[in-house]
Amino acid sequence: MKITIIPGDGIGKEVINQAVKMLKKVESKYGCNFEFNEALLGGAAIDATGNPIPEETIHKCKNSEAVILGAVGGPKWDSHPGDLRPEKGLLSLRKELGVFANLRPAILFPQLKSASTLKEEVLGDGLDIMIVRELIGGAYFGEKKRIDIDGGQRAYDTIDYCTRDIERIAKKAFEVARKRDKKLTLIDKANVLETSRLWREVVTKISEDYKDIELNYMYVDNAAMQLIKNPKQFDVILTENMFGDILSDEASMLTGSLGMLPSASVGEGSIGLYEPIHGSAPDIAGLDKANPIGAIMSTAMMLRYSFNMEDAAKDVEAAVSRIIDKGYRTGDIMEQGMKIVGTEQMGDLIAEKV
Ligand code: IPM
Ligand code: MG
Repeated sequence: MKITIIPGDGIGKEVINQAVKMLKKVESKYGCNFEFNEALLGGAAIDATGNPIPEETIHKCKNSEAVILGAVGGPKWDSHPGDLRPEKGLLSLRKELGVFANLRPAILFPQLKSASTLKEEVLGDGLDIMIVRELIGGAYFGEKKRIDIDGGQRAYDTIDYCTRDIERIAKKAFEVARKRDKKLTLIDKANVLETSRLWREVVTKISEDYKDIELNYMYVDNAAMQLIKNPKQFDVILTENMFGDILSDEASMLTGSLGMLPSASVGEGSIGLYEPIHGSAPDIAGLDKANPIGAIMSTAMMLRYSFNMEDAAKDVEAAVSRIIDKGYRTGDIMEQGMKIVGTEQMGDLIAEKV
């Protein structure tokens, strides 16, 4: 099982080290064999090669079955032009791998209820939402430009989707919903955006093949509010790239911390890309403060989706839960009476429990 490891920038390296440590434990326990191959992306790649996504990285990723990625970006490269920014490397990698479906589960560990900023009565007995975010279209990839005009500048980004892009992600979302509570909410801005109106038409058409799934529509502004007001109404959320970026950060706070949430990106091909949804957090990089749970849970998703190792995936998830049960917390989820630990120790504790 060939895995490309991309630590990236900021806290990326620290959290990925913990994920790899945990995978080595899985190897010895389950008698499997992972072949790790490290690659450069983002700021680290710019510093080493001048290119946020060197050819070699694309080659390595395409020659593996799964890619585990930490995070990219940081103030050091913030003044670079768009094409030479770390984020460009990540976006190109997603595009190159064709991973159009980004699955972002927002699951609240009941032990962390009070770490969420929401009241306990809003969270009820837990929370389990799956955001299905379109990942390689929309404003991120549409035509964009900057033009000099009379003393100033004009800039534009284009949101661009075609029927086929929407169909393939919609099918994926309905399939996901079928394995869960059979409830799908399409989030858009169909009262204003033409692309959103196309999304509604296409998703409605696809829904005819999924009569067992309840389909609802919601405007994104309302959805941002409803997520905080009554998150339990959602099961699977389907949305375009940028809305998904924003709503998944929002949803993460329902679960206590951005540091907890994993993601899996898949396409029609066989390569999966796994990354925590948090960013590179330059303010705490190198300080052993980052929460490695998002990265570790992403690796559990890899075991499940890329390698069909359901038992090992469950094992890792249970290990995380038991360590939280025992009161160990990184700074982002720390509460009174709990034991604060750093990135490395949290990684050790979880790996030991697997
Ligand atoms: C994410 C991140 C990325 C995105 C950035 C780093 C380009 O915020 O994975 O959510 O916007 O997709
Ligand atoms: Mg984001």
